Amino acid sequence: MNISEFQADLERSTARIEEMSKGINNMDSLQKAIGAKSDWVAQAAEQLAGSGGIDSVLRQIRQQEDAIKTAAESLDRPARALVDFAARLDEFAIKSQEVFQAATSTVALEAARVKLMGAKSGQLKTIQSALKGLDRTIKPFAGKRFNETKKRLKLDQMAAQQRLAESTAPAGATLQFDPTVPGIRPRLGHLHPITQTIEELKDIMGRLGFTVAEGPEVEDQWHNFEALNISPEHPARDPLDNFYLATAAKTTGPNGKDTDAPDKGWLLRSQTSTVQIRVMEKTKPPVRVISLGRVYRPDTADATHYPMFHQIEGLLVDTNVTMADLKSVLRLFASSLFEDNVHVRFRPSFVPFTEPSVEVDMSWQGGWMEIAGAGMVDPNVLRAVGYDPEEVTGFAFGVGIERICMGRHGITDIREFFKNDVRFLEQF
Ligand code: DAH
Repeated sequence: MNISEFQADLERSTARIEEMSKGINNMDSLQKAIGAKSDWVAQAAEQLAGSGGIDSVLRQIRQQEDAIKTAAESLDRPARALVDFAARLDEFAIKSQEVFQAATSTVALEAARVKLMGAKSGQLKTIQSALKGLDRTIKPFAGKRFNETKKRLKLDQMAAQQRLAESTAPAGATLQFDPTVPGIRPRLGHLHPITQTIEELKDIMGRLGFTVAEGPEVEDQWHNFEALNISPEHPARDPLDNFYLATAAKTTGPNGKDTDAPDKGWLLRSQTSTVQIRVMEKTKPPVRVISLGRVYRPDTADATHYPMFHQIEGLLVDTNVTMADLKSVLRLFASSLFEDNVHVRFRPSFVPFTEPSVEVDMSWQGGWMEIAGAGMVDPNVLRAVGYDPEEVTGFAFGVGIERICMGRHGITDIREFFKNDVRFLEQF
């Protein structure tokens, strides 16, 4: 059977099992469907030998699983537990099969055997312990499936052993390298979802004429606060709300001013608004930039907070810039990002470096989602960088990138982004 015949066969058996699942109405018919599916998995594993087609097989398995699961919904709890248990076995079996087949040395094969089937702490052992917790009514059937899987795995492992023994056997063979043996496919990764979002944001804002500016993550008081019209007694400067650098306590700030206390020193920037100042100090108006990057705040990590997160900052300064411009840009921004004709609304707010300031919501799934803080650049800020507020006006906005990414993908916990769990990351 070649690979395309195999694929067709896969689809046929999936259709058969979906058909069969429609008739599930008691434990007997459920067990029959699970049995048929597991047989199919075993057969698929056989065919799979070296074809590298595990992804499509897993996809088909899941489709079959869904059909059985939907049918089992109407049955009792033990029946549903049985479906889950069988699914776990099947997935484990086919993945182990692939691991055994991919082993290129006896050492690697033995390591795989211990990891998967080791008597003490192999993964199969964990599945076996789950068996204990199952309801009495389904235990015999689940036990039988477990034993069959275990037997099959043993056979697969022995076959792999045989294969390796043959390939290294000196018996008249000089062939150590067989170019017809399929290679091992390296696992390809992809960009982190936050990076993907950042790239997309740059793209969208780029189309609106905004170029990208960068700024340092270690900042001084001037750029993080003073030039942004945040006075020394403002609570945003509280040492408890910022990561001040201990080593900076007795150094000279980059703006040339002596600093003698931790709260006068350098800090990890708490916002990307710092880059507004850095850009305006260096360029004459008109200015049209965005800046994207990490910011830091000593928040306790929970579902919506993390001590490090990402922001995108936008700044436009020119003659006759108004809030209407701000609103148009933010609406285009939100529409492009969410690929929808979204509405944007402003709520009054207070931010020291913009006047007036607003919080920006966009229409989202029947409600409103807050996406940004924004406003017209405060004249004090323009003066701080040497611009004349009588000549130019501007708008600025700041957006949390994690929040955007979570909204789009329905992610409910910000901590997921930073756990580096491939099972989470590979979904995006
Ligand atoms: N920097 C603000 C924050 O971190 C967000 C923000 C609000 C940025 C208003 C702006 C703005 O540019 O105009 O919460």
